[in-house]
Amino acid sequence: RADAALAIPDRADIDAWWPRLGATSEKYTRGVVGIATGSATYPGAAVLSVGGALAGPTGMVRYAGSAAGHVLRQHPSVIATKRVADAGRVQAWVCGSGLGTDEAAATELRTVLATSLPVVLDADALTLLVGGRMADQLRGRDAPIVVTPHDREFARLAGGDPGPDRVGAALRLASWMNAVVLLKGDRTVVATPAGEAWANPTGTPALATGGTGDVLAGLLGSLLAARLPAERAAVAAAYLHGLAGREAARRGPVTAADVALALRDVVPLS
Ligand code: APR
Ligand code: MG
Repeated sequence: RADAALAIPDRADIDAWWPRLGATSEKYTRGVVGIATGSATYPGAAVLSVGGALAGPTGMVRYAGSAAGHVLRQHPSVIATKRVADAGRVQAWVCGSGLGTDEAAATELRTVLATSLPVVLDADALTLLVGGRMADQLRGRDAPIVVTPHDREFARLAGGDPGPDRVGAALRLASWMNAVVLLKGDRTVVATPAGEAWANPTGTPALATGGTGDVLAGLLGSLLAARLPAERAAVAAAYLHGLAGREAARRGPVTAADVALALRDVVPLS
């Protein structure tokens, strides 16, 4: 395929897409994002994905999972419940980071997929899809799905490594899954089932530290809940995540929590 179809987003694109506050903005109309991540084993993934979501444009973040205590201690503005089914109204879900792959995790993923809302599927949610185990839930879904695999997760989903043509690989998986694919790497690629692709220009090796992927998933969910089209949400999240990694690296060694905080310095002003 010709690389001419590959777009590189710039700051002006992100600024133009970012939802703005109006004088009469209200928390519910700004959008509410639901975060179904983390577990007793991996509570940090919940804190980090919620941290990413809180840097986005939504008016409220709801958390559903077993790391609620950790989330609330770090982020008192969040409304927390144990189960997705009890979370109340949201406009998009993020599911997977640190969730685990046991039957309870599968139930939460099924509940998320049964909604008619846009969803971000990351990490353990991707593992739970492998082998067609959620095929019934995926079939007949109209609302967009964004999957955010790194290379090993991509290989499990697609049945093989992305290889050197990462754009082509992401486009093939997007078409096959009928989902937007955000293939993470030093030059993260976003691909749509319709055959559009973007390469992110802001990546930095400062992001090569555990948990930054969880922050990205949370931010992406916030953009979906604020009603950005899925491909714009994915492109904008990757772009700002890279800028946040660079910003955090100016201060010293970077942790994923630093990236979540630095997002606040790089997102467009609402
Ligand atoms: N240059 C630019 N960006 C990079 C680089 C690099 N050299 N290395 C990593 N990144 C970015 C990726 O593009 C991605 O956005 O850092 C993020 C890393 O995300 P993940 O690979 O999902 O890693 P993370 O989730 O933070 O931590 C590991 O993933 O494999 C699972 O179970 C594992 O929970 C664990 C988690
Ligand atoms: Mg990850």
